Amino acid sequence: MTQKQVEKLLQEMSVEEKINQLVQLTGVFYKAGDVVLTGPELDLNPDKTVISTAGSVLGVYGAKELRRIQDEYMKKHPHHIPLLFMMDVIHGMKTIFPIPLAQASSFNPDLIKECAGIAAKEAAVSGIHVVFSPMADLVRDARWGRVMESFGEDPYLNGLLVGAEIAGYQGTDIAAPGNVCACVKHFAAYGAVEAGRDYDTVEICTPTLREFYLPTYEKGIQAGAGMVMTSFNTVNRIPASVNSWLLRNILRNEMGFKGVVISDYSAIGETVAHGYAQDEKDAAQKALEAGVDIDMMSPAYMNNLKALLEEDSISTALLDESVRRVLELKNQLGLFENPYKDGDETKEQQLLLCKHHREIARKAAVQSFVLLENDGILPLKAGKKIAFIGPYTNNKEILSSWAVTGNPEDVVTIKEASKELELFSEARYFSGSPVVDNSYNLEGFVGKAPKNIPEEEQAKMLEEAIEGAKWADVVIMPLGEHFLQSGEATSRVELTIPEIQMRLFRKICEVNPNIVILLFNGRPLDIRELKKSARAILEVWFPGTEGGHAICDVLSGKENPSGKLPMSFPYCVGQLPIYYNHYATGRPGEAGQRYHAGYMDAPASPLYPFGYGKSYTNFEITPISLNTSVMAADSKIYASVLVRNTGMKAGTEILQLYIQDVAASVVRPVKELKAIKRIELKPQQEKKIEFVIEKDMLKFLRQDGNWDAEPGKFRVWIGNCSDTENMATFILSK
Ligand code: BGC
Ligand code: BGC
Repeated sequence: MTQKQVEKLLQEMSVEEKINQLVQLTGVFYKAGDVVLTGPELDLNPDKTVISTAGSVLGVYGAKELRRIQDEYMKKHPHHIPLLFMMDVIHGMKTIFPIPLAQASSFNPDLIKECAGIAAKEAAVSGIHVVFSPMADLVRDARWGRVMESFGEDPYLNGLLVGAEIAGYQGTDIAAPGNVCACVKHFAAYGAVEAGRDYDTVEICTPTLREFYLPTYEKGIQAGAGMVMTSFNTVNRIPASVNSWLLRNILRNEMGFKGVVISDYSAIGETVAHGYAQDEKDAAQKALEAGVDIDMMSPAYMNNLKALLEEDSISTALLDESVRRVLELKNQLGLFENPYKDGDETKEQQLLLCKHHREIARKAAVQSFVLLENDGILPLKAGKKIAFIGPYTNNKEILSSWAVTGNPEDVVTIKEASKELELFSEARYFSGSPVVDNSYNLEGFVGKAPKNIPEEEQAKMLEEAIEGAKWADVVIMPLGEHFLQSGEATSRVELTIPEIQMRLFRKICEVNPNIVILLFNGRPLDIRELKKSARAILEVWFPGTEGGHAICDVLSGKENPSGKLPMSFPYCVGQLPIYYNHYATGRPGEAGQRYHAGYMDAPASPLYPFGYGKSYTNFEITPISLNTSVMAADSKIYASVLVRNTGMKAGTEILQLYIQDVAASVVRPVKELKAIKRIELKPQQEKKIEFVIEKDMLKFLRQDGNWDAEPGKFRVWIGNCSDTENMATFILSK
């Protein structure tokens, strides 16, 4: 339709029709077969008119089902306006890629774009129009279970990857076949909830909000995301879902966002519980005034907008503004011409989980693994007797709690992959223990919680595992969190591996010292004890559908790991929040010094810092050479190093450039990532790698309120981890 036709349609719609365009319901109300419920079950009771004219539906997929719903709906709708179908496609549709935190470990925007492109294709043929990702929330506290959905603790890396993911979903034209509309969430600062408690308060000062948290969402807007979702938390004491300053001043005016804003699940109604809105009606008014276009699963808009209009508390112009944005999105997707978009049963069968998609999922998993420790035991040498011992040895539940459209049945386990690839001439497989013991509380995960295993059976599992460990030359232990221990509403105060697995680990240590840990998890964990006794630790996160193959590729040495941590691994929970780009203190220092910013009973630094990750080969990086040590305001500095692969295997290194403003009008972080480069090197190969330092990289929110750089001294580091000491200095001249 032309813009004019959209406008004409808007003018012809009744008030009820308009209001209901702003209402989003789950598939339950459309008698869909399988509905993925991702929030609390609410007593909404929409009447028939609301159901037959609601603007969008979430949580259902499948070309056939969505065509049926669309047909029935459009027939009844007075203006035959099509429904928008939205779905939580977070890290894949049917082909499930590694969790976002794992994908971030690749430090590879091209890979993230490729995965998102495939997820978009699979979602599109399944009838989906909008996907609820990427999650652009910066995270610093691993107690928050949703860190698994994020790209980690660094605004630069986050922004790069969020932009890449949106490019993958939307392409250059969201209407084109295989593309879907992306939704940047959760605006804003959801990742900063106090003490990692999901949905809780966010206490953040404006400079921190602007320098660390907002830039990633902004990168999403610049990448052209068609939709933004609000967050559950407050920002400056006002719930984000009704926060005009945030949604109008910052999102729309400053960032220039023109698309649709959707509330998070029931978040508008929840502002009453927050003690901000007087009642549901007040909440509806405040949300619409703040510019929230769609009310996801709360009764606020459907029950109150009409009355608010009648009593002139809101204007028709305000209502029209939001309805127009929803219609425009439908139009941009081409739904008025083709309400199914790409939904197609035949294509679903051809595309979902096809060979190519699985290959990319395997590649993505390999690139997401982080080698935390290795004394040379990996890759595994030929002819060794290998025992796989641990609950993830032959476990298909390695997709994550946010793979709501994925099916564990499609997963290749480690055992299956190892047998299929015939990599290890002598291998035995034992689960050794369940993931969690029978008493572990996974309440609320209806139908998903693990089955209880009788005590006698558990004792037998343990016994067999110990025998296996005695037989083996090398024990590979796939251990970790239960997949339901990370994701939404999974905040934890203990970040250790479930005790029942630690018991197994200790028993195995008693009989065989040659232990390699494969770590399955959705967040950084406290793994001090594993570090002490294991000869190697490979972080594999929740690796997705092709996890088993990818793990075997890396264990056998067919692939060389190259991932880097996108989030610090704490030494212990008491250190949280912990992140590398913290502000400089007056008393830096380490444990052992009496008067320093740290702890008596733990080091100040994390167990593994941001940017850390080993390889099967070694890379040497020379000191930095700068083409000049003085940068004029309008010029650049070229900083270069030589990188040499000094080992015996080809490998990929991720070079990281950090900068610090040494003294400024406000205190600056000790260092901040400003650029990355991936380098592939054959054994003994050497390459000169050059970075360009530009003035933009030196800018920050100055004391005078300007976003600009200040003349003076800067430090620059180039290395393969945030703790690199490879540093040079330069001056930004006046
Ligand atoms: C989550 C969102 C999600 C939405 C819809 C909410 O509970 O916070 O991230 O997109 O549900 O499922
Ligand atoms: C303490 C002060 C104290 C001063 C002089 C500082 O280290 O923080 O409280 O008064 O030393 O002893």
